[in-house]
Amino acid sequence: MKLAKTLFALSIGITGSSVQAEVLTRDNGAPVGDNQNSITAGENGSVLLQDVHLIQKLQRFARERIPERVVHARGTGAHGEFIAAGDFSNLTIAAPFAEKGKVTPVFVRFSTVVHSKGSPETLRDPRGFATKFYTEQGNWDLVGNNLPVFFIRDSIKFPDMVHSLKPSPVTNTQDPNRFFDFFSHEPSATHMLTWVYTNLGTPASYRTMDGFGVHAYKWINDQGEVNYVKFHWQSKQGVKSLRPSEVKKVQSEDFNHLTNDLYSQINKGNHPQWDLYVKVLSPKALAALDYNGLDATKVWLDVPETKVGTMTLNRVPDNFFLESEQSAFAPSNLIPGVEPSEDRLLQGRLFAYADTQLYRLGANLFQLPVNRPLATVNNYNQNGFSNNTKAAGKALDVNYEPSRQVVVTEDRSSRAVNTALSGTVQQQAITNPRDFYQAGELYRNLTEQDKQDLISNLAGDLNQVSNPDVKAIMVSYFYRADKDYGTRLANATQVELSQVKSKAMM
Ligand code: HEM
Repeated sequence: MKLAKTLFALSIGITGSSVQAEVLTRDNGAPVGDNQNSITAGENGSVLLQDVHLIQKLQRFARERIPERVVHARGTGAHGEFIAAGDFSNLTIAAPFAEKGKVTPVFVRFSTVVHSKGSPETLRDPRGFATKFYTEQGNWDLVGNNLPVFFIRDSIKFPDMVHSLKPSPVTNTQDPNRFFDFFSHEPSATHMLTWVYTNLGTPASYRTMDGFGVHAYKWINDQGEVNYVKFHWQSKQGVKSLRPSEVKKVQSEDFNHLTNDLYSQINKGNHPQWDLYVKVLSPKALAALDYNGLDATKVWLDVPETKVGTMTLNRVPDNFFLESEQSAFAPSNLIPGVEPSEDRLLQGRLFAYADTQLYRLGANLFQLPVNRPLATVNNYNQNGFSNNTKAAGKALDVNYEPSRQVVVTEDRSSRAVNTALSGTVQQQAITNPRDFYQAGELYRNLTEQDKQDLISNLAGDLNQVSNPDVKAIMVSYFYRADKDYGTRLANATQVELSQVKSKAMM
């Protein structure tokens, strides 16, 4: 006993100061005798397999990497809190909105989308803005971006789109020839491409970006009344982006500028804040829109926003891997009062995230502190790799429901809301895609400076496209959004306007 104590708490003096030294151990807790030299058969003999410390150290090192996120691999997170601006129980029974001043802890991860884990944060991309609310009803993840719409409206196209945007399987470099080849078949992307190629595609700081839930969700109150909502985080720091010349400067000075800025500002006590706004539409008002309000390539124009709370980020993780890297945000992490809308893209996401996270982090990912709900988890999901909890129930050999030995109850108020159905099972595109009109609205609302930057950013990539047809089709989409937009882009990319017009007619 005395020996063990001495082993685990040696006090040594280093240059006058006394530092408490902890004994180095192997993973089984046994002390390490020598961490500098392997065990060898004599001075010139081979290294011995019996050096279990050496073997374990190399084995653990070889397994340090887990799969990076298939998208949004490059990111950084921070902890904070959300405070409700009022009582919104007339709209939803979701806990964070129950009463004015209610505090809900959050973890947020910001990210780029297509670029890999160590890539420069200066590269053009939408930015992920994912928020995990740790509520007493369970974890709710609002997994959004810094732009209000998306490229596609059906999840069946997501893997194709990401393949085209990711590095080429031949050269391992990103290539506008590949992604514009894809997008020339996807006029639905015209609106989102316009957003991405504005300077919002290169934010100055994560603190100076807004966030959007993009999809419509349903809010449900205790009467079972449904409203469709869209979420918008408004940065209280203001929105600031990098202009094309600034991107080059920042890239050469510090391509980790977004992470460094977030960490240094939070550590200085300069805690960034966002107000959360919602747009609310009754099912009737949603159906009356002159575009499809469930189409993720559309914003709800002219619908007023209501402020429902404020989020403050006040603490960065002690360890990047434990928290940011192992955090798992999923649109399927929903709580009572929030349900998915029928948006086809969102419906695909409900499956995709939970599925990839079972692969990336394993079946027991909810046991990791950053993903663990504050609410008690009580179910009969069990076992799997690296399990550290027993299944629910007081009697350990009851791992099923129902049982006469252990009674667990259901919360009837948490059942799915009834939704009327009409039509037939089908496999068809939506009937009113209106692919171009909101891209035109966006373009016309830009300042002259922002229009110039948009044209120069977009032309920079389009001018790398060698297939003249792909180039002309892309320009024709922007021309259909707005004639001035398309004409300026045609000039900047040396595409004949007559050719653009004839493609636009098609
Ligand atoms: C059907 C369309 C989509 C699919 C299939 C999809 C799939 C994925 C997958 C597989 C991941 C990696 C998750 C992980 O490993 O933890 C991911 C991450 C992410 N996605 Fe999507 N995505 C889609 C559309 C969107 C949209 C529309 C948004 C924004 C509204 C979005 C925002 C994000 C964010 C923010 C992350 C990173 C979350 C984090 O920080 O860990 N995605 N997506």
